[in-house]
Amino acid sequence: MHKRWSGRFSQAMDPQAAAFGASIPFDHALARYDIEASLAYSEALQQAGLLTRTEAQKIVRGLRGIARQIEAGRFRFRVELEDIHTHIEQALIAKIGPVGGKLHTGRSRNDQVATDLRLFCLDHLKQLQQGLRQLQKTLVKKAEQWSGVIIPGYTHLQRAQPVLLAHHLLAYVEMLARDEERLTQAETRTSVLPLGAGALAGNPFPIDRRALARKLGFKAVASNSLDAVSDRDFAVEIAAAATLLMVHLSRLSEELILWSSQEFGFIHLPESFCTGSSMMPQKINPDLPELIRGKTGRAVGTLMALLVMLKGLPLAYNKDLQEDKDPLFDLFATVTSSVTVLSSLLAQTEINRDAMSQAMQDETMLATDLADQLVRQKVPFRQAHEITAKIIRAAEQKGIPFTQLKKNDLARIDKRVTPALLKELTPTRSVANRKTTGGTASANVKRELARHKKRLRGRRSS
Ligand code: ARG
Repeated sequence: MHKRWSGRFSQAMDPQAAAFGASIPFDHALARYDIEASLAYSEALQQAGLLTRTEAQKIVRGLRGIARQIEAGRFRFRVELEDIHTHIEQALIAKIGPVGGKLHTGRSRNDQVATDLRLFCLDHLKQLQQGLRQLQKTLVKKAEQWSGVIIPGYTHLQRAQPVLLAHHLLAYVEMLARDEERLTQAETRTSVLPLGAGALAGNPFPIDRRALARKLGFKAVASNSLDAVSDRDFAVEIAAAATLLMVHLSRLSEELILWSSQEFGFIHLPESFCTGSSMMPQKINPDLPELIRGKTGRAVGTLMALLVMLKGLPLAYNKDLQEDKDPLFDLFATVTSSVTVLSSLLAQTEINRDAMSQAMQDETMLATDLADQLVRQKVPFRQAHEITAKIIRAAEQKGIPFTQLKKNDLARIDKRVTPALLKELTPTRSVANRKTTGGTASANVKRELARHKKRLRGRRSS
């Protein structure tokens, strides 16, 4: 078997070198896209007068046959043939004869691999976006189902102020909506056709690159051949957007783990998504959110690997670029499966209303509301803060909730704080007071729910 470039060589390739340099162990994942691009390219060659109709038909039929063979698992991959591009070209020549060797006219593996990878990314972005939208829908649905439930909001993981559980969940929807937008923007810059750039300098034959782009579904054609074959910015942008998405999934996972712990007890994760311990019979462990949190490291690793791979490369193509694929493929698989699993797990998660309302018994979370009441009586906030702090401390010394302090105790601190005033402080009122845009008041949350539902019902913003 001849390598496509073996003519120049007098020595056969060292098997160790071949194995080390081969990308076929991972780039076989590009097969579909490689064939799709070749089908379009054979049409372009025919239109440019480089293939007769019959030749082009032969090539198309040959390529389709190879596609079926690969799909059925009846195609043999071997490291001596280096990469998927060589495999398919060799198979084509073996199948239809020397005319198969015309397909590579004006084309290089450099513009070929860049095209394949972009097609792969565009396809896999669609799947990822679908999963991402499903996850947002699940969160919105749960927020709606549990609307009205008040939980402690935290800062520093210390109880801070009451918030609606729905408001808390919609915070994640905000993050995910931004992720969706970022991925869409990355998609735009991925949708640029490199094919026709040749090895680096351009294509010497009059192929119609616009028609090629249309045929392959690219929105634009790369303007500079050197850039076209060496640009992997799209991969970096996708990795950055997907990694940030993964960081969001990790934060959500962390809360699921925390909230399902005995210490919080706010939620019950579906048992069908948990695992037991081989030693401790009582355990039900939140493995999947833990794994998502753990896999975030891989995503971050991908982004770093791509950036570092690119940083020292002179123009144009360098073999270093082969290292883009494995991490990127892994990233898509990791993030898409994480999004999907998390959505299914959330859909079956239940809340423990008792534990939540038990936590809400801690009325120190209403301290800010007391200070706010004093502000409404024209007390400067800084003073109101101090008065409230003293009240909280006095109650603590007596070992009672601050709302149960007697008139005399209150008057000793400040006459403007009365038992009647304290009675007005409830979590429900605290939440209802936060009506300005973005606040946790239920009217706001309802409006936000409606907005997200509408957005998620519509088509993706691309
Ligand atoms: N397997 C190679 C890659 O992934 C394909 C391009 C090879 N080009 C070359 N000039 N050796 O980048």
